[in-house]
Amino acid sequence: MKIAILASGRGSNMQAIVRAQQSGKIKGEIICVLSDKPTAAALDFAREQGIHTEVLMAADYENRAAYDKALVARLKELGAELVVLAGFMRLLSADFIDAFPERVINIHPALLPAFPGLHAQRQALEYGVKVSGCTVHFVDSGMDSGAIIAQAVVPVLPDDTEDSLAARILEQEHQLYPRVIADFADGKISLKGRTVYKD
Ligand code: GAR
Repeated sequence: MKIAILASGRGSNMQAIVRAQQSGKIKGEIICVLSDKPTAAALDFAREQGIHTEVLMAADYENRAAYDKALVARLKELGAELVVLAGFMRLLSADFIDAFPERVINIHPALLPAFPGLHAQRQALEYGVKVSGCTVHFVDSGMDSGAIIAQAVVPVLPDDTEDSLAARILEQEHQLYPRVIADFADGKISLKGRTVYKD
């Protein structure tokens, strides 16, 4: 399976995925790490690993539709079969999703459907939940609203700050996301309606 990873920032999930691929746990090829931010640290790591990188900046396109069209064209040219969003902080249009049916996934640092969107960990602390976690889900054109593939749970502790909770969740993200992608590459994950099946 040809995997494209899209990342806007630090890229720690991308690193965990690359490591899992390098160690043979993910039986697929990472064909590209693509970012909308030329300064994303994710790109530095990918380059160090000899992975092809690309940057597509929104400012170079007239609007979101034009950007997404260019993104689809590039990913198709590269032969992407699975599009992995790893801290890619842009909402993708229905046209993008339709170009890769059931082949775009994302990780979110909360137990969806709770706390979608930005600052999920802050939202969880402010709400006062006692557990939170992360969710890997199919991407649809809504905000973190696609079918849920897998989740991991962490406790929220009384003295947690946004940073301490984010760090606890991130540890789980680094386990969960590579595992889901490995299952994907093994052809174990399928979707019917909103129900995700795993062989
Ligand atoms: C991760 O915590 C990821 O779940 C979150 O951004 C962080 C990226 O970190 N994504 C979202 O909030 C998407 N709604 P990373 O660049 O180190 O992987």
